[in-house]
Amino acid sequence: MSAPPVAPDPFDLVIFGGTGDLARRKLLPALLHRFADGQIAPGTRILGVARDEGLDDEGYRTTVRGWLQPQAGPQRLDAFLALLNYRALDVRHEAGWDEVARLILAPGDRVRVFYLATAPDIFVPICERLRGCGLNGPATRVVIEKPIGSDRASAAGINDAIGHCFDERQTYRIDHYLGKETVQNLTALRFANALFEPIWRAEHVDHVQITVAETVGVEGRAAYYDRAGAMRDMVQNHLLQLLCLVAMEPPSRLSADALRDEKLKVLRALRPIGAANAASLGVRGQYRAGAVDGQAVPGYPDELGAPSRTETFVALKAEVANWRWAGVPFYLRTGKRMPLRVSEIVVSFRAVPHSIFEGSTGPIHPNRLVLRLQPDESVTLWLTNKVPGPGGMRLRDVPLDMSFAETFGRQHHVDAYERLLMDVVRGNPMLFMRRDEVEAAWAWADPILAAWAASDDAPKPYTAGSWGPSAAVALIERDGRTWIDDVD
Ligand code: BG6
Repeated sequence: MSAPPVAPDPFDLVIFGGTGDLARRKLLPALLHRFADGQIAPGTRILGVARDEGLDDEGYRTTVRGWLQPQAGPQRLDAFLALLNYRALDVRHEAGWDEVARLILAPGDRVRVFYLATAPDIFVPICERLRGCGLNGPATRVVIEKPIGSDRASAAGINDAIGHCFDERQTYRIDHYLGKETVQNLTALRFANALFEPIWRAEHVDHVQITVAETVGVEGRAAYYDRAGAMRDMVQNHLLQLLCLVAMEPPSRLSADALRDEKLKVLRALRPIGAANAASLGVRGQYRAGAVDGQAVPGYPDELGAPSRTETFVALKAEVANWRWAGVPFYLRTGKRMPLRVSEIVVSFRAVPHSIFEGSTGPIHPNRLVLRLQPDESVTLWLTNKVPGPGGMRLRDVPLDMSFAETFGRQHHVDAYERLLMDVVRGNPMLFMRRDEVEAAWAWADPILAAWAASDDAPKPYTAGSWGPSAAVALIERDGRTWIDDVD
């Protein structure tokens, strides 16, 4: 086993939105785990900033203790909580900033990370204040969450405004899917094995499916979600990033810019979908009341308390128009209130050109490589094998399975946020989106969104707990293919 990495020097991390959902569910648990693994050195300071004036340092620690209690023993939790402080601040107003600056500037020029776990409309005011208060030192980094803007123009506006305060090398645009273990492994699988690369192209790949299915609904985020919808919340970022990693050319080396240059080329090669073809290449859906995991759940309009035309499901047939991939469909689908929480990439290879077997031996299905991101990370190659024993040549599909848990043992599962937060502290931008990538992804998404907005058709209803509207099944079946049913 390789030695754990050396912990970085003590650093300062300021979480704007320190009492919010992201801080509670992801950021503070991730920091606690890294601390417990010895990756956050004593002397590190974590400052929660939020509007709540009723909290002070002790009150914040008590709140965070309540969130984290089930995840660590009391001693460890106490030691972690001792790193935490809190300041109430309305970031749009000047009052209180000098106090934050005083706290942060105290020990000199250590690494300083500002995590903007806030609504995107205050990214720019926060960055402007940070610069105004002299908080942009040589080792300062700012982290912003997706979606960045709601279309290309607004994303460019945010990027420009942040760019006036921080250099691109200081700006970390997070897409937490890039921190997931299987997503990282996709790069290893493609470029550390000679096996796949020669067949990773249109001559041998029939199609690719990328599914990100969730069982949850909008979870108290309706105000944000109803403005975003599945296209802006999931497809423009997470699903397109996965597509890029499947489709990109080998970078010449594993460096942040070499990798991001290749992803950018894929985004720019996506065949446009717009008014003329959005209806034939895309399906939008919205869930209605149904049952998930045996529990009755309300429909989206009931959760929202109002009718809405926002999509909670998207299926798209995309194409990367270049020499490697011409003609190979990339079917993307994502939705809330699906029957299972599962995220998978399926690379489906072409059928054998000619079968030497007779009908009685059983069908020969094309090989497929299934990369499961969650819930159980694994890579499975489906091969056709002879059923052992007497009885002649009988064929069956068998999985060549590499479950991470079995192969590498049940070590602590490193959450994407743990990896990404430490990458920011270490100054490694490889798993973060560069400005041009974000804008290229919007440039592809915008005409689809515009076509949907201009259409008289509302998103198609689907029952919560189903795999989306029947039109999504028709989208792929029209091409003589089916959604791969490992996910069923
Ligand atoms: C977020 C979306 O980016 O990703 C959420 O805003 C979604 O709507 C979440 O639920 C899914 O992340 P994960 O890691 O649970 O698959």
